[in-house]
Amino acid sequence: MSDSSNTALSNASLNGLKLKNRLIKAGTFENRSPNGIPSQSLIDFHTQFARGGIAMTTIGYCAVENAGRLNADMLTMHEDFRSEITRLVQEVKKHDCKVAGQMGHCGAFSKNHTLKGRPKGPSGGVNLLGFAEGMWFCDTMTLSDIDHMVEAYREAAKFMKSVGFDALEIHFGHGYGLCQFLSPLTNRRKDNYGGSLENRLRLPLRVLTAVRAAVGDDFPILAKITMSEGRRGGLHYDDSLAICKALDAAGIDAIIPSNGTSTMNPMLMFRGDSILPTLLRYERNRIMRFLLRLMGKKMFPSLPFYNMYLLEHAKRIRNVVKCKLVYIGGATSGENFSEILNAGFDFIQLGRTLLADPDLPQKLAAEPSFKSRCTHCNLCVGTIESPQGIHCPQFTDASVL
Ligand SMILES: Cc1cc2nc3c(=O)[nH]c(=O)nc-3n(C[C@H](O)[C@H](O)[C@H](O)COP(=O)(O)O)c2cc1C
Ligand code: SF4
Repeated sequence: MSDSSNTALSNASLNGLKLKNRLIKAGTFENRSPNGIPSQSLIDFHTQFARGGIAMTTIGYCAVENAGRLNADMLTMHEDFRSEITRLVQEVKKHDCKVAGQMGHCGAFSKNHTLKGRPKGPSGGVNLLGFAEGMWFCDTMTLSDIDHMVEAYREAAKFMKSVGFDALEIHFGHGYGLCQFLSPLTNRRKDNYGGSLENRLRLPLRVLTAVRAAVGDDFPILAKITMSEGRRGGLHYDDSLAICKALDAAGIDAIIPSNGTSTMNPMLMFRGDSILPTLLRYERNRIMRFLLRLMGKKMFPSLPFYNMYLLEHAKRIRNVVKCKLVYIGGATSGENFSEILNAGFDFIQLGRTLLADPDLPQKLAAEPSFKSRCTHCNLCVGTIESPQGIHCPQFTDASVL
């Protein structure tokens, strides 16, 4: 075995959690939890990565409360589903793989028809996701709504630890609830929760403190952030350094610097072919199809893929934090993994690379010069709306559909 595979496949630990290698399955919303309840298909989906040798898999977008779902079919951390969620986590763990849960709240961005009233975010206005479905507007959160959100994270964290999750990943990025507070584009509040970055960080830091209190000091908590929203007036790379410093000081164990937002600029997150054709393929709502045809080319331009496309920006974070760093974004080969780890990262999260090659760690062990077969066509992104759940239409084994 060459040095590159030795490094990516070497043991590591994260706040006491032993991980058999440095490769982690990134959260990729699975769409395999009808009505918020995990299905056998969700277990099978994650088991394929566990069997393939990944150290830890991340269950994507675990809504911390009913109102935190983007749609009604998102996994919800609720006592009513304790036995199903416990089974999900325990079944995957049987394959020598740790399980993290990505804690999410959609805030003002929702098409969840089971929601009572309008979705709520830092500032009211148009509900971009629900607009085409008749959920036109979102409301401004009151101070008691803010307290409620903190409690929802606290309760969800307690619940998630009790059902056996090994680690929690708080989603601070991609335009969802906590990111809406961080972003000056979506947070136009005039109180202590809006304005300066210090104020915009207030709710996200309260959430981190509440989650930490719920799980204890010796339980790993990761933070996924957006480095830049890629929009004038939005979060920029320099802001992300300040955000990382604040999370580090507040006791985060690891930071995953991602990019872009699902709401405004998703192509910054997964560079490659435009996701427009695949979104059109699965979108059933006629108004949404019309809007996609009208604005899709501008919203979802093809952004040429290149390996490790976030590395240059993400590397700057190493100099400002003491916590562990998890690289994400276009890591596709043994050579890439080596370069990333040598640049000061402790772990690597893999999204599309694993969708295309679920047994990547095994392949890497056998062949250190392994290269992923993912073509960055981004067809998998549209499968977020597929009745079969997300998958790589190019290479997926039909047995997991
Ligand atoms: C189909 C699909 C679904 C995704 N869902 C999520 C999600 O639920 N939460 C999240 O933080 N990121 C999500 N992402 C983004 C990935 O976690 C990752 O940041 C991105 O794909 C870049 O990494 P990669 O180049 O290894 O794919 C998704 C990506 C894809 C392709
Ligand atoms: S559909 Fe498959 S090949 Fe295309 S980007 Fe997704 S994982 Fe890669």
